[in-house]
Amino acid sequence: MTVVISATGLYTPPHSISNDELVASFNAFVARYNSEHAEDIGAGVLPALQQSSAEFIEKASGIQNRYVLEKAGILDIQRMVPDIPERPNEQISITAEIAVAAAKEALKKAGRDASDIDAVICSCSSLQRPYPALAIEVQKALGAGGFGYDMNVACSSATFAIQNAYDIIKAGHGRSVLVVCPEILTGHLNLRDRDTHFIFGDASVAILVEHAEIAPPGSWAILGTKLQTRFSNNIRNNFGFLNRCDPQWRDMPDKLITQQGRKVFKEVVPLVSEMILQHLAELDLKPSDLKRMWLHQANSNMNRLIAERVLGHEATQEEAPTILDEYGNTAGAGSIIAFHKYSKDLAAGDKGLICSFGAGYSAGSILIQKAS
Ligand code: COA
Repeated sequence: MTVVISATGLYTPPHSISNDELVASFNAFVARYNSEHAEDIGAGVLPALQQSSAEFIEKASGIQNRYVLEKAGILDIQRMVPDIPERPNEQISITAEIAVAAAKEALKKAGRDASDIDAVICSCSSLQRPYPALAIEVQKALGAGGFGYDMNVACSSATFAIQNAYDIIKAGHGRSVLVVCPEILTGHLNLRDRDTHFIFGDASVAILVEHAEIAPPGSWAILGTKLQTRFSNNIRNNFGFLNRCDPQWRDMPDKLITQQGRKVFKEVVPLVSEMILQHLAELDLKPSDLKRMWLHQANSNMNRLIAERVLGHEATQEEAPTILDEYGNTAGAGSIIAFHKYSKDLAAGDKGLICSFGAGYSAGSILIQKAS
């Protein structure tokens, strides 16, 4: 029995922020901070904050731009957090809303009615609440049937959910499973931290995973999935209920994302490239069988190295397309955005790989083949 990816959908937020705009705001904040704390900095009690630079950001990460749900609050140096007001319970939550927008595109492309869906999985690194599950809210908003639940595996959220959807269909619990990955990452980004302020953007994707018997033409057969996790503190976010036990929690930077970028780079590149090679071997495939790799979009140098280790040569944009320059890091959504934008030109029989990696560490590999 074959399980396929029938269609994908993408929601891109209406606002974008260039590196220059982001850096101008960050540097204005640094100048104000250093001037306000000049006495302590002069006395050696406090370290002066250092300026950021657009050139550094592009060279270190490949990011030139990011899309955001709200722009003014991010750039306002009095705030430096997006101004996304809480909504009343009667109104659809913002995360469910952007999940629905991406889902509608995927359903339309597959010619599928929402009532045909047997399950909704909402899997992302930026779940806005613990319950009720966002997936159930998305299920209701779409008019889908069956059941829904949420998952979070950081940047690997979408690939891990694709495997769950695959398993649901293989086990006979459903034939049409909708995976949504709405990532509002500007909410957990520390815009006052020079090392990380530029990394993330917002976006939402949807992936319709189905039994091949009902799949529309042009779908992608899932040849196999492989997941891996290995505990690491190098990307971490300690935000959670128990923080309420500490009266100081609002002032603690580790309640937003923190990372040891260099260590992540060094440790994740071998983990991911070895996993891809192992997955290919398990399915009796060679790297040269891959027409394209849609890699997680966190850092262009990291992707270059992973692709090179897998293919044995430097990958072209056609072999490993990037969307990082335009979108920034969109966590779980990144590899799916790359697939969504750069897969239409492939022919029946062509094989490809969707691969995610991120906090956990976690990594997911999905090998697919375009059906006729
Ligand atoms: N502007 C200007 N300079 C900056 C800067 C900024 N915003 N941030 C750091 N620098 C400086 C540092 O101070 C350092 O200077 P020094 O050499 O004088 O000490 C220099 O640039 C290099 O810093 P470093 O942190 O080593 O940069 P890097 O080349 O490792 O790039 C990352 C940083 C985070 C972009 C990169 O390590 C990375 O992307 N790693 C992987 C992260 C990842 O994939 N995370 C997964 C999330 S899903």
